[in-house]
Order: sequence, then structure tokens, then C-alpha cells
Amino acid sequence: MTRQRIMSGMRPTGYLHLGNYFGALENWVKLQNDYDCFFSIVDWHALTTGYEETKDLKDNIINIAVDWISAGLDPEKSTIFVQSAVKEIADLHLLLSMIVPLSWLERCPTYKDQLQQLKEKNITTYGFLGYPNLQAADILIHKADIVPVGEDQLPHLELAREIARRFNHMYGQTFPEPQAKMNQIKLLPGLDGRKMSKSYDNTIALSDSPDAIRDKVKTMITDPQRIKKTDPGNPNICSVYAFHKVFSEGIVKEVEENCKAGTIGCVQCKKLLAENIVTYMAPMYEKRIKLLEDKGKIIDILKTGNAAARVIAKQTISEVYEKMNMLELE
Ligand code: TRP
Ligand code: SF4
Repeated sequence: MTRQRIMSGMRPTGYLHLGNYFGALENWVKLQNDYDCFFSIVDWHALTTGYEETKDLKDNIINIAVDWISAGLDPEKSTIFVQSAVKEIADLHLLLSMIVPLSWLERCPTYKDQLQQLKEKNITTYGFLGYPNLQAADILIHKADIVPVGEDQLPHLELAREIARRFNHMYGQTFPEPQAKMNQIKLLPGLDGRKMSKSYDNTIALSDSPDAIRDKVKTMITDPQRIKKTDPGNPNICSVYAFHKVFSEGIVKEVEENCKAGTIGCVQCKKLLAENIVTYMAPMYEKRIKLLEDKGKIIDILKTGNAAARVIAKQTISEVYEKMNMLELE
């Protein structure tokens, strides 16, 4: 039996952190055993909002590849590639733009939200309006059956399905309607208790060294009511405890009880946590060090992935040209 195909992507906008790992990447790592997976570094999508500041783009692409592979994406199992290396995606994006009504794009809730939120950037551009259309092209070029995403991406998935239906209706059955698969997430706050996010500078990066992790854990916000070590604490309002739930399986109960009883100090509690995070991330960190010893290998992995992604993309685009009665001459 052929395996179902999965496609997903992330924008290369800097380093990844534990929030990205437990929000998406951990899912992808598991999925690669059961599905035919395509994971795309979507640099064109990064440009839709970041077109003015492109100096880090090359580095960011390599860095996200290193983050992915060290976190467990396996180039032997999955196709890891760079969006802009597969020009057929741009070709499909253009053709789909002929049939996507402007109103579908303008109505998209993420579009309206982003226009509000990113006021400092001028994203009243053609490219940004077309963001979901480009995402549909990413998904449809690989005829993906399933797209693992976070909740924020559901409107884009719905649009991709509508675009697929419209194309199939006009030109004949071509694309499967991609199904969203919600990521199973483990909730991890940032170091300061807010959502973990690069823009808050409250993250633990996948690339942080063991000592960097130890230093960061020391700065974590705990229950502010606890002044003395013997004060009873409330673990439920403490980020350290939220982390323990993810990293300290065997001792969570103990931490909770000792915190409430005032029989463990926050300094000690943090030390326990830091070592558990370091242990958890050690295999990733080792893989990263190895990978970085041979940058050429990273490039080779991407080149191989690009070539594999192109094989499928070329088949799809030929079929699309044929269905649309375009003249395709070599
Ligand atoms: N828009 C997605 C995000 O911001 C990234 C993305 C681009 C994507 N193309 C995709 C996700 C195709 C899934 C499938 O997270
Ligand atoms: Fe948080 Fe641990 Fe301090 Fe309790 S003892 S407040 S869980 S750091």
C-alpha cells in the first residue's frame, strides 16, 4: 500500500525554540515513520512580510535546516527542501492566482489580523495578500493528503481545500483535498510566563548550549509570593512547574507537593529542572555539533531534498498544464 503524503512548512525567520519544538516539530518527527513526508523551508513566505530585510535569509535557511535535523527530522525518511528551489511552486501559484477570487483572500482572518498587528511593516502588498494562495500551491504541488499544522493555520487549510475544489471543478479532478491534522502540543510558557516567543526574548532555543540553558532557567519567573524557601508556593502559577510537567515526568508530583509544603527552594527546584532539560536536549545538541562540523553535508541534504521535491512537482505541473489546455513545449 502506498503511504499517504504529508506536507508542511515553516518560515525561516531565525532560530527555533522549545515552543516551536513542542508545538510542531515533535509531531513531524513522529509522522515521518508512517507517512511520505515533505517538509519545506518556505523562504518565499518569509519574504511576504520580510521583503525589506533580507540580509539574514541565507543563514536562516541553513539554520532552520540544522534545527530540524538535529531535532530529529531525518533526511533518509523525509524530503527536506527549500521552497524557492522548486520553481514549479511559483508556476502553480501563478496559475491558481487566476482562479482564486480576491474576496477569498481578503476575507481570510489571518490576513485581517496581520494587517492590524504588523502596522510597522507595509504589508499591503500583492505578495502578502496571496500568502494563502502560495501556501495552497505548496500543498497542492505535492498532492498532499494531510497537512500537520497549528490552530492558527486552519483558515489557510480551508482556503487550500476551496482552491483545490475550484480547480478540480473547472478543469477536472486533479488535486486531493488536503486534510488538516492538528498538532498535538505540549504547552510550555516562556521564561517570563508569557507565551514563548522570539519577540518577547523569553525562549530556550534548540541551539542553546547546556550552560546557556542553565543560565536561562535561573532567570525564570516563579511564584512571586514565595520570599523565603519555607513559604508555601503555588506551582500552578510558576513557569518552572509548567516546565517540570514536560521535562520531569518522574518527579512532577514530588515537586508539586514540596512546593506547596515549602520544603523545596526555588533555586533547587530550578536546578533539578535545568538538568532535566539539558538531559532531554543532549541528543539534539550532540547532533547539532556533528552537523555543524560539516556544513557541506547540510547543503547536500537540501540539494537532495530539492531534487526529490522537484520530481513530484514537475509531474503535477505537467498534469496541470494539460488539464488547463496550456501548450507545454520543452
Ligand atoms: N503558513 C505556515 C505557517 O506560518 C507555513 C507554511 C507555508 C505551510 N506553506 C505551508 C504550512 C504549507 C503547511 C503547509 O506556519
Ligand atoms: Fe516554582 Fe519550584 Fe519555586 Fe514552586 S518551588 S514556586 S514550582 S520554582
